[in-house]
Amino acid sequence: MRFLTGLQPSGKLHIGNYFGAIQAAIDLQNKGEAFYFIANYHAMTTSPDAETLRANTYEMAIDLLACGLDPEKAVFFAQSSVPEVNELAWILSTVCPMGLLERCHSYKDKIAKGFSPNHALFAYPALMAADILLYDSDAVPVGKDQKQHLEVTRDLAGKINDAYGEGLLRMPEAIISEVTAIVPGLDGQKMSKSYGNTLPVFGEEKALRKLINKKVVTDATPLEDPKPTEGSIILALYKLFATPAQYEEMVAAHQRGGVGYGQFKKDLFEAYWEYFRAARERREWILANPGYVDEVLAAGALKAREEASKVISRVRKAVGLI
Ligand code: ADP
Ligand code: TRP
Repeated sequence: MRFLTGLQPSGKLHIGNYFGAIQAAIDLQNKGEAFYFIANYHAMTTSPDAETLRANTYEMAIDLLACGLDPEKAVFFAQSSVPEVNELAWILSTVCPMGLLERCHSYKDKIAKGFSPNHALFAYPALMAADILLYDSDAVPVGKDQKQHLEVTRDLAGKINDAYGEGLLRMPEAIISEVTAIVPGLDGQKMSKSYGNTLPVFGEEKALRKLINKKVVTDATPLEDPKPTEGSIILALYKLFATPAQYEEMVAAHQRGGVGYGQFKKDLFEAYWEYFRAARERREWILANPGYVDEVLAAGALKAREEASKVISRVRKAVGLI
């Protein structure tokens, strides 16, 4: 079974990304062949500044490696290291009806957010289909928001196979993480960069302690009174990091009263800080070893390109490009 997923290099990872997508995706490296790439061509559609793109790409690579992506087990590379993907995207575009792209939510959402309706943004799903089909992927773990793009991918693979021969492109399945609960932000809305309510996975201890202390929203129940457990942001976040016994203890302390929110926030910080200790140490090691990330990505690119070249030569031949 070959798994493949792409991650947009969009700045600092937050715990919503971690628990909602990254943890489960990285776990697949133990369940089969895993391909992970940083979708830097895709990021260009909304991040046109070269230095920002480069820095975000490195930051994403560092963070994923710190979070446990193991380059000994998985193939890890930057999308742009395999430019053949653009050729496959072009070939897919020739069978891609305009209406299919016009119906895509992500394009409409981006336009609604004020991005200029450029061709790359419009053609994004065709490139994403190429990302998947270029590596003969069997299964693609993605968030619910990407479900439609997987449908486009299957649709395009079907059209190519109808036109040029059954089995030319492997038909991938989506693995949609329906079960993942939405991680609440510090203010209780969905955690998201666009709401400015995130808790980063990595950062400086003092600043993060302060962030939790100042920004996690609570009600005004006095210290001595019992506190509501329903809708508690502290409890929802604590549950992600604490053992079941620690979590039950905090629920009981809410119900008993006599403990203030300041203490609960302190407990939340400690559990969070401990949870990412190993990842933080790996990250520090990576930062202290310049060259490591480049080496990993170069080795990944080599393997990825080898796989890609099999598919692209098969396709070129089938469509009459030689
Ligand atoms: P943001 O909303 O901060 O821009 P992204 O859209 O870049 O986050 O999210 C990348 C991935 O992380 C998606 O697959 C999404 O499902 C997951 N994710 C983001 N925020 C959350 C959240 N609050 N809870 C669960 N999963 C999340
Ligand atoms: N579009 C995906 C996102 O925004 C990222 C992505 C690009 C991707 N290509 C992919 C995901 C291929 C899975 C497979 O999150």
